[in-house]
Amino acid sequence: MNSSKKCVYAICVGFFLLGFSLCSAIDVSHDGRAITINGERKVLLSGSIHYPRSTAQMWPDLIKKAKEGGLDAVETYVFWNVHEPQRRQYDFSGNLDLIRFLKTIQDEGLYAVLRIGPYVCAEWNYGGFPVWLHNMPGVELRTANDVFMNEMQNFTSLIVDMVKQEKLFASQGGPIIIAQINTCNGWYCDSFTPNNPNSPKMWTENWTGCILPDCKNEAYNTAKVNTQTSVMVKKSNQAENEPISLSWVWRPESIDDTVVHGKAHISANGLIDQKAVANDASDYLWYITSVDVKDNDPIWSDDMTLRVNGSGHILHAYVNGKYLGSQWATYGVFNYVFEKKVKLNPGKNIIALLSVTVGLQQNYGPMFDSKQTGIPGPVELVGRKGDEAVIKDLSAHKWGYKVGLHGLDNKLYSSDSRYASKWQAEDLPTKRMMTWYKTTFKAPLGEDPVVVDLQGLGKGHAWVNGKSIGRYWPSYMAEEDGCSDEICDYRGSYDDKKCVTNCGQPTQRWYHVPRSFIQNDVNTLVLFEEFGGNPSLVNFQTVTVGTVCGNAYEKNTLELACQGRPISAIKFASFGDPQGTCGSFGKGSCEGKKDALSIIQNACIGKETCSIEASEDIFGLTSCGDVTKRLVVEAVC
Ligand SMILES: *[C@@H]1O[C@H](CO)[C@@H](O)[C@H](O)[C@H]1NC(C)=O
Ligand SMILES: *[C@@H]1O[C@H](CO)[C@@H](O)[C@H](O)[C@H]1NC(C)=O
Ligand SMILES: *[C@@H]1O[C@H](CO)[C@@H](O)[C@H](O)[C@H]1NC(C)=O
Repeated sequence: MNSSKKCVYAICVGFFLLGFSLCSAIDVSHDGRAITINGERKVLLSGSIHYPRSTAQMWPDLIKKAKEGGLDAVETYVFWNVHEPQRRQYDFSGNLDLIRFLKTIQDEGLYAVLRIGPYVCAEWNYGGFPVWLHNMPGVELRTANDVFMNEMQNFTSLIVDMVKQEKLFASQGGPIIIAQINTCNGWYCDSFTPNNPNSPKMWTENWTGCILPDCKNEAYNTAKVNTQTSVMVKKSNQAENEPISLSWVWRPESIDDTVVHGKAHISANGLIDQKAVANDASDYLWYITSVDVKDNDPIWSDDMTLRVNGSGHILHAYVNGKYLGSQWATYGVFNYVFEKKVKLNPGKNIIALLSVTVGLQQNYGPMFDSKQTGIPGPVELVGRKGDEAVIKDLSAHKWGYKVGLHGLDNKLYSSDSRYASKWQAEDLPTKRMMTWYKTTFKAPLGEDPVVVDLQGLGKGHAWVNGKSIGRYWPSYMAEEDGCSDEICDYRGSYDDKKCVTNCGQPTQRWYHVPRSFIQNDVNTLVLFEEFGGNPSLVNFQTVTVGTVCGNAYEKNTLELACQGRPISAIKFASFGDPQGTCGSFGKGSCEGKKDALSIIQNACIGKETCSIEASEDIFGLTSCGDVTKRLVVEAVC
């Protein structure tokens, strides 16, 4: 399939918007080989900060760190699906306040690169497209389709107008040096594929890039940027009395009207795409049908199974009010087949299938937007007599649909919910599916970031003081194989199997709780546990810098900083060709004649920051020959 046809609109708005100038305007241009700023060629280092992924209170610190890390520009997409959750109803509040984010970048003195999208290639729900747009009649996403073009131009021009009004383009004296509009992934435009011999060299070898202005002398090599690595450590919540054990109350999620009585909101013949029914308003969609089976039915036997072909991501099956089993997609494959032995009653049987999405994960690749989510089917009852399988296909049956769960609709996570009573302390269950848990905790002391350790839980959603801190799934383990004890070597071409860590461990266990969500006195944590888990090990912690490692090539300055705390000890220092990575450095084959460790100890211990030049003048002559020498230090905060 020639997907380049799907790219209809890829232009740099920035370049024409920058055409007019004001007195404080910055002149951004391009001379055929490089971006120029006020006439001078620039190597710009830009990094992404996606504003909706953090709170507005966190932005100044994040942007300041980006600047301290050496960036010139902060780049972000604009996330259409969250700004226009319903057609012509806009949200630019809180962490969606794009203008405030751009002004924060400006206040920190950095440039901004604004990728208006609407396509978002960043592990983002449905690639940034609103699901209501997918559901509009006659629409075909990411094509020159009129419905799509009209909606896209409506949104993108709204953004351009907002930004212009606030004078945020460089030509107006603002921080935005480049703006971009695109509807699909650059990867799928033919001219940019790595295999095209005429393609510009976009993909660099060895995870590094290097600029050779005269094809000989390095002007810039990303492998030689001086860096500091901070190794974070977690501390228990000092505000609580030891031992920290939170007291929990609980209540069940009520599902009986669905799984026992088969109640639904709407019904239709056949199986419908989850996006079309749920409109992305909830992760949860019940598919409910009733089936009459007589004991003389050809499928009737002692060996009957329920078989469901599903797509992204999780299925929980109930038959006649009883839980039958679950199935979920693993490791990036979105389709799954559920098959489980089932006992039916002669007569009417209620089959209730809860399909759960973890966001609309399929968000890139050709036609990703037209792939089905939920239960595309078939859904079958399979009877076996000897070798013979008899299939009753339920796919075209009348199905009832119910979006969401009671507890979520009734906002049980919020203290002002009028349904938020009836919590009980007795008989706290563990490993119970569809269960709500609630506890209180004291605000952790100090300013360090706060995390909650959700070890022991299955899968679900967590809220602090009524604010979502995200879905969780610590029972989902990373693949067992692929980790190695050897020091990781990133060299060679990129490969996602390289330098893999935490094999067989939960893919995520700690969840950030923004300080702005936490109140001074008592705070509430609510969990909705979907799979069943044990909350007894859940606890709050603060995160702080434990050790820092610095690296500087010869004639550059090494800088160390413990984020405002004094450096207490130096674990390792060597000028020459030291080996290994932060935490496991070792001496190489050559080293300066002077004692690097005591030089660094004298320069750094007791100080909040220290800097020292990596040179033979300071560390003594080496016998490294042609090897590029560097100074490496590991310090304890
Ligand atoms: C978007 O469409 C609405 C009508 O649906 C119109 O009133 C509005 O002006 C449009 N906005 C832009 C920026 O084109
Ligand atoms: C159901 O899923 C299985 C496994 O992915 C696949 O082989 C089969 O073709 C699917 N059936 C249909 C009708 O899609
Ligand atoms: C990438 O690394 C390999 C192995 O270390 C080396 O042979 C090759 O020259 C490197 N390529 C570049 C462009 O530096």
